[in-house]
Amino acid sequence: MARHLITSAIPYINGIKHLGNLVGSQLPADLYARYQRGRGNEVLFLCATDEHGTPAELAAAKAGKPVAEYCAEMHAVQATIARGFRLSFDHFGRSSSPQNHALTQHFAGRLADAGLIREVSETQVYSPTDGRFLPDRYIEGTCPNCGFESARGDQCDNCTKQLDPVDLINPRSTISGATDLEQRETKHLYLCQSQMRQQLQDWIDSKADWPILTTSIAKKWLNDGDGLQDRGITRDLDWGIPVKRGDQDWPGMEGKVFYVWFDAPIEYIACGAEWAEAQGQDAQSWERWWRTDKGADNVTYTQFMGKDNVPFHTLSFPATILGSGEPWKLVDYIKSFNYLNYDGGQFSTSRGRGVFMDQALEILPADYWRWWLLSHAPESSDAEFTWENFQTSVNKDLADVLGNFVSRITKFCRSKFGEVVPEGGEIGAQETALIDALTTRLHAYQTFMDDMEVRKSAQELRAIWVLGNEYLQSAAPWVTIKEDPERAAMQTRLGLNLIRLYAVLSTPFIPDASAAMLAGLQTDDADWPEGDLGAWLSALPAGHAFTVPDVLFTKITDEQREDWQTRFAGIRT
Ligand code: 2FM
Ligand code: ZN
Repeated sequence: MARHLITSAIPYINGIKHLGNLVGSQLPADLYARYQRGRGNEVLFLCATDEHGTPAELAAAKAGKPVAEYCAEMHAVQATIARGFRLSFDHFGRSSSPQNHALTQHFAGRLADAGLIREVSETQVYSPTDGRFLPDRYIEGTCPNCGFESARGDQCDNCTKQLDPVDLINPRSTISGATDLEQRETKHLYLCQSQMRQQLQDWIDSKADWPILTTSIAKKWLNDGDGLQDRGITRDLDWGIPVKRGDQDWPGMEGKVFYVWFDAPIEYIACGAEWAEAQGQDAQSWERWWRTDKGADNVTYTQFMGKDNVPFHTLSFPATILGSGEPWKLVDYIKSFNYLNYDGGQFSTSRGRGVFMDQALEILPADYWRWWLLSHAPESSDAEFTWENFQTSVNKDLADVLGNFVSRITKFCRSKFGEVVPEGGEIGAQETALIDALTTRLHAYQTFMDDMEVRKSAQELRAIWVLGNEYLQSAAPWVTIKEDPERAAMQTRLGLNLIRLYAVLSTPFIPDASAAMLAGLQTDDADWPEGDLGAWLSALPAGHAFTVPDVLFTKITDEQREDWQTRFAGIRT
């Protein structure tokens, strides 16, 4: 049994995520986790909320709540929505957890001991109007790289360049709008990434099988010269992990906290500790996933994220891990995604543009969204959500192909043989040909899933559904039954077994529909088809009772589509 550690980029706590966020990390990570579990492998799938930094402080201020209270509430909201989307995290943690506090301070201590942290006196933007330093997102201005007018202090959303607040042109405070900003002296800690350039370069170079999107971004940062500059890892904020060197105070750093991008990835590890605690287990149970000296040497670790997160995961976080000199598990594979756009523009949290996860679930069940998003995942380029395309895909793939197959065969069986699997004779040439075709496609499906080729996997799964439909269409048991009832019974028996196949193979994409199919078949035998598919497809024996499941997928009408188009055309306030 292989062991898979899987993490999704941890979503910022500030507000509900949109579908573009979902398809860029949590959803494909869930697909992969479910697939690996389906194959019988041991999986630890972790995600958390990213609770520090200016986004959290700003959102809490806007909501008029203390930050800790705001974060606790929003964590619960995000957890509920994640359950609604059937995201099967083994644990959904919080970067503000005591475990992450301790671990982040521990890493800082180790890095300092290794000479990889230096103290820097620097000028930072100070706002007399606000009476404080303005880190990162408390400042907006024009990007010096691309001219985007709403670039944040730490990164430009338009060109993804990492920025320093002092680089911005025409900077303004996002708290008060003040433009009378000054530069003042303050002391901060810097992680000496530049000292680790060669080590990181060698590590990235050893990852020949990584997606081009991942390695090209990493190499750009390594080779541009500016990507691996030493980076400030502390901030003048109230909310966050206090700067300490292990459990010791850090003279001169009083009142400062670690930068959110320093502690967020460490939360992947801390989340393992949170998971163990929630299970009532000891450190050993999570260290066997995270420490190569304690069993994690045979773990395959895969991370999922949007492209804007890649520099932090290919360079900064590995620098933290490698620099610690301790045997922490390094990522084996980074699956990154381009952006999903919304109806001719960008999804945007700050601008409230697009469909947000809670809204999506209000109008349709999770499977509809999961299927569309995954089958259109922005892998090789940015992708676009349009309501027309959504309607077409759902209606064709889910309702016409899969739903129709299930409904047709179960209803036919009920009317001719009752709600039990009929006996029938031996399978014939047509069935053998079908099983051969299914076997070929199943292998392709598995290969794409193993390789995390999300769109191709969806296409292959759909093709597997289509094979069943085509078979049913040409075998036509409703015609056969007039001449040869035995044969019609055999065809029906195979058809019912195909539903089980579809349920098992489709679980990673559409878990609710899969569960409904298995429930209809009155079986919980959901073992993955290994070995001879023909034999596997006779597991539901003659005489086995079933019930016709409710309609699996209802078609989206033109009226509904137009309605939603109008409803989601504006800005969410
Ligand atoms: O982009 C984001 O939503 C970040 N909160 C992702 C953090 S991933 C990690 F490093 F923790
Ligand atoms: Zn820019």
